[in-house]
Amino acid sequence: TRPLKVGIAGLGTVGASVIRILERRNETVAQRGGRPVEVAAVSARDRSKDRGVDVSRFTWFDDPVDLARSADVDCVVELVGGADGTALEVVRTALMQGKHVVTANKALLAKHGLDLAQLAEDKGGSIAFEASVAGGIPIIKTLREALPGNRVSRLYGILNGTCNYILSRMELEGLTFQECLKDAQRLGYAEADPTFDVEGFDTAHKLAILTSLAFGTRIDAEAIYVEGISSITPLDLAMAKELGFRIKLLGVAERTETGIEQRVHPTMVPKSSSIAQVMGVTNAITIDADAVRELTLIGPGAGGDATASAVVADIADVAAGLVQPLFGKSVDQLEGAPRAPMQRH
Ligand code: HSE
Repeated sequence: TRPLKVGIAGLGTVGASVIRILERRNETVAQRGGRPVEVAAVSARDRSKDRGVDVSRFTWFDDPVDLARSADVDCVVELVGGADGTALEVVRTALMQGKHVVTANKALLAKHGLDLAQLAEDKGGSIAFEASVAGGIPIIKTLREALPGNRVSRLYGILNGTCNYILSRMELEGLTFQECLKDAQRLGYAEADPTFDVEGFDTAHKLAILTSLAFGTRIDAEAIYVEGISSITPLDLAMAKELGFRIKLLGVAERTETGIEQRVHPTMVPKSSSIAQVMGVTNAITIDADAVRELTLIGPGAGGDATASAVVADIADVAAGLVQPLFGKSVDQLEGAPRAPMQRH
C-alpha cells in the first residue's frame, strides 16, 4: 500500500519530537494507520538550526505555504502557531486542495474553526487537532468518540500547564510569579507570548474547542468571561490554604437554563478534590455527564513529546482514513453559539 506522506510546517520542540516519535514508533503507527507513514517534507524559518534530529533527508521548503501546496504531501502538520497569518494560510491552502491537516493550534481553531470546518467539508479534506487541547491527554477523542451514550452537563479543567506550574510553585516553594514564569518559559511550556497563558486566553481557546465538542454548539471564544492569574499573590495562595482550598485557573463550560455558559478564572477548589491534587505542568479535565456521572482525565498538558504523542495519533488516524468533521458533525448541524456569562464584579 501507498504510504501516507506527511509534511511538517514548523520545527520547534513539538515538530522535532514528532519526527523522532514517528521514527521510534514506526511500526505501531503503521499498524494503527494500516499503511506506512513517511515524513516527506519539512519547513521552518532556520534551516541550519540544531534540533537534535537530522532534517536534511526531507524535502525542505522555506515557505510553509509551498509545503502545504506540494503534490508530494498528503497530510500537512501545522505547527507554526498563531491565530492568523502564516498558520491560517498554510491550513487554508492544504484544505483548499482537499488535503488532511493535523494541527496543535488552539488559537487558530478558536478564531477560525467554523470557517475551516466548512472548507474541509466542502473540499473533502479534514482537520485533526488532538494536540490543541491539554497536550498528551486524549480529550478530543474522549469527547468525540467515547460518550455518545451521554448528555454532558458540565465540563471543567486545568487547561494551561504554565499557569498550573506557576501557581503550584508559588504555593509550595514560596517563589514569586515572575520567577516561576521565567522557568516555565525556559522549560518550553509557555506560549511565544506568555500573556496568552497568564491572562487566561490560552485556557479560553482550549475551552472554546471543548465546549463545542461536548455540547454540539458553534465554537465561540468571544463568549467567554476571561480572567487570568497575573494578580494572584503568595498571600492569596496562603489564605486559600488556611481555609482548606487551593487556587487553580479553571476553564468551565456548563449547561444552564438559558444556554451554555463558558468562563475562565482563578477558582478556589477544596484541597480534598481530585483537581486540587493536580500540580505542576499537568492538566486535568472533569466531565459531568448522565451515564458516566463524573470522568476525570489527568496528564501532561504541554511539552514536546507529550504534545507530539497527540499529533502522531492524529497522523495515524489520517493514514487509516479515520477522519471526522471538525466538531463531530457537519457545520449546519451545529447548534447556536454559547451565550456570554453574566459579568462578575
Ligand atoms: N502554553 C501552553 C500551556 C502550551 O502552558 O499549557 C500547551 O498548549
